[in-house]
Amino acid sequence: MTATEIRPDIFWVGAVDWNNRDFHGYSIKKGTSYNAYLVRDEKTVLFDTVRQGFKSDLLHHLHQVTGPQKIDYIVVNHVELDHSGCLPELVELIKPEKIFCSPMGHKALLEHFHRPDWPYQVVKTGDEIKLGKRTVRFIETRMLHWPDSMFSYIPEEKLLISSDAFGQHWATSERFDDQVEESELLAHAAKYYANILLLYSPLVQKLLAEVAANGPAVEIIAPDHGLIWRRSPGAIIDAYGRWSRQESRRKAVIVYDTMWHSTEKMARAVESGLQQEGIEEIRLLHARKNHRSDIMTEVLDARALILGSATLNNNIMPAMADVLTYMKGLRPKEKVGAAFGSYGWSGEAVKHLQAFLDEMGIPAAGEGVRIKNVPGHDSLKACVELGRAVAKAM
Ligand code: FEO
Repeated sequence: MTATEIRPDIFWVGAVDWNNRDFHGYSIKKGTSYNAYLVRDEKTVLFDTVRQGFKSDLLHHLHQVTGPQKIDYIVVNHVELDHSGCLPELVELIKPEKIFCSPMGHKALLEHFHRPDWPYQVVKTGDEIKLGKRTVRFIETRMLHWPDSMFSYIPEEKLLISSDAFGQHWATSERFDDQVEESELLAHAAKYYANILLLYSPLVQKLLAEVAANGPAVEIIAPDHGLIWRRSPGAIIDAYGRWSRQESRRKAVIVYDTMWHSTEKMARAVESGLQQEGIEEIRLLHARKNHRSDIMTEVLDARALILGSATLNNNIMPAMADVLTYMKGLRPKEKVGAAFGSYGWSGEAVKHLQAFLDEMGIPAAGEGVRIKNVPGHDSLKACVELGRAVAKAM
């Protein structure tokens, strides 16, 4: 990789992580990138660093643009270690005049690196620094997605360096949205939103409203992961509007786990009921054969969430507990639900699935269906009826 100029004297200097497949429990099938940016002006600024293990890529790219010792300032938009892992070594090498961070960023930096001696300068929303020809304006974006998160905006370039927001986990040699297939780019961005930001949707709504009312004009959005939006920053802003409103389609997701295929037969009968009522877009997702983060991506724009599990040791199947614990934390909204499952003797699974739906605030479209041992044609009719009831409630 080489450093990439994204505006005159503004460069991508990050690192591409082609082989990472797991991002603390989020399956990243096509790797990721850790984007850092450098602005060369009378004052030269580095925005964020990269994950530990990628320092040599960052240094290689910095040397292509400027000597690291010529960097005056470091801006820490986000303290999470995929962006600050190399910060101690970079501070040692660069000896920056100042390290800019949000108030919460200052606390987080002290708690991560225990270096009260670094030259911090705490900035808040609206604070600006002059670099020469350009200005950097800071915008705190608390809880998007950490307390410390902030954006850096360069008005002369209409460039928003957006930290984790608007990112995608996708390792590419291309750096810009117009160099890749748009549908794949948006699919990666949707997965990222569903698994990182969905929980914070009310804050995303607030931020988008503020930006629309009096915020900056933006021609380029440069996130900390994935591709830079220069052809269509409006497309990703519009998508964030839809996702944060949790807009859904007439799409049903059936997530299930099965012991001896009885609950699986029930899932197919529920699918049949949905189809009888005209639902065409249905996903049957076996919890042990689909990663939790892929299931969450399908749930993002689904109007119905239907859960199935066999009873195991008076409880639900472990993979369902994994998926539902993860899903509950991300707080999907604006859905209808239902539960079903087979059992041998005690049959508590449906009750537990229903409790997950209740905790997520997803109303049940019908009473949960339980079938003892192996379902027959007649007993499956209750599952067909459940699917029809869900379809009518969608
Ligand atoms: Fe990409 Fe929240 O770190």
